[in-house]
Amino acid sequence: VVPASRRRHGRSLTSGAANPTTTAARVDVTTAHGGYPVWIGRGLLGRLDELLPPLPGAEAAAVVFAPPVAHLADRAGQALARLGLAVHPLQVPAGEDAKRLQVVAGLYERLARVPTHRADPVVAVGGGATTDAAGFAAATWLRGVPLVNLPTTLLGMVDAAIGGKTGVDLPAGKNLVGAFHQPVAVVADLDALAGLPPVELRSGLAEVAKAGLVGDPDLVAALATAAAPAAAGDPDALAPLVEAAVRVKAAVVGADEREAAGGEGPVSRAILNYGHTLGHALERLAGYQGLRHGEAVALGMVFAARVAEAVGLAAPGLARGHVELLRALGLPVGTVRLDPEEVLAAMATDKKHHRGLRLVLLREVGRPMVVPAPDREVLVAAIRSLAEAPG
Ligand SMILES: NC(=O)c1ccc[n+]([C@@H]2O[C@H](COP(=O)([O-])OP(=O)(O)OC[C@H]3O[C@@H](n4cnc5c(N)ncnc54)[C@H](O)[C@@H]3O)[C@@H](O)[C@H]2O)c1
Repeated sequence: VVPASRRRHGRSLTSGAANPTTTAARVDVTTAHGGYPVWIGRGLLGRLDELLPPLPGAEAAAVVFAPPVAHLADRAGQALARLGLAVHPLQVPAGEDAKRLQVVAGLYERLARVPTHRADPVVAVGGGATTDAAGFAAATWLRGVPLVNLPTTLLGMVDAAIGGKTGVDLPAGKNLVGAFHQPVAVVADLDALAGLPPVELRSGLAEVAKAGLVGDPDLVAALATAAAPAAAGDPDALAPLVEAAVRVKAAVVGADEREAAGGEGPVSRAILNYGHTLGHALERLAGYQGLRHGEAVALGMVFAARVAEAVGLAAPGLARGHVELLRALGLPVGTVRLDPEEVLAAMATDKKHHRGLRLVLLREVGRPMVVPAPDREVLVAAIRSLAEAPG
């Protein structure tokens, strides 16, 4: 649409720049099919036209969004229009309700009506549920069209919008239908988090903590130092933390794009499931209500750290460190009374465990490994320990 020579490309302006509202950091994700940038900073939705890579042949953009972020979709649409694209806003339900085949079928119908073509991007504006559903539509519409992810939740910025996993839920379970489809760019505008409910922010902070715990001890230290402003949603405090968490995810995805490493080796994509085996089980038992994903993952990480200590993989102190960090972020670390039998049964039905229950455990912060689950008694004791309020 816009000749490459006329396009202004975003520059990597990081710390020290005079005006924090215009700074942006760039992290590149490298995959077998090429790479893409993840931009992180403030005020970026208004500068989308500068930050996007060329979209050869594109004439239109389908902007998929949910009602709570309509104003952000509008801002993105204005920038896309400046690129000469005809902008078509396509609304989907908020949250997990978007991740249904009927919703994706509705998107296909609207994409056909516009009509959009092979070169026209789907631009997803929203949390992980929106980017997952819109991403799946982009992966399958005309056998795949370019996808731009504009995450508006912290979890979306550090996790869901990056890495190419897209999909929808079925009554039989979450994320059972999907496709790998990498975006052509991800733009994480920290100012978009302004209206995010605190519980959603905390949920995202659990994933930032996870990224640090599995892959970056410096991020863990930075998160501990900046816990209060980060938990309050201060975008300047969040910026370096989001960037570091994105670097962890980018490195893992670059090394194991399709989770082919099957849990073997230090760079298996499976390490991103740290805290998720118990976390998913708790979410399932809670019927996906009352417990946000990140809160369940926080409990799952405390559980995993206690298991790692109990089997002698990690030195004593790992779990205490987890508790201090997660508590400072406002995340739950105990006082949840669970029936170990029920939890173990829910853990065993996780779709990722077809070869027997495996857990991601840490030898220490930044040194994850995927191991067969230890003896039942160890698991039961660690589940029971979550009933206590750690000192
Ligand atoms: N594809 C992946 O690799 C991957 C990774 C992790 C999680 N996920 C998926 O992500 C989903 C969870 O994503 P999430 O935690 O971002 O939640 P979400 O997408 O459900 O969003 C939570 C709520 O916040 C609203 N919202 C979003 N941005 C907002 C903003 N800026 N201001 C106000 N409200 C806003 C949403 O409309 C929704 O109601 C799950 O479906 C999960 O399976 C995918």
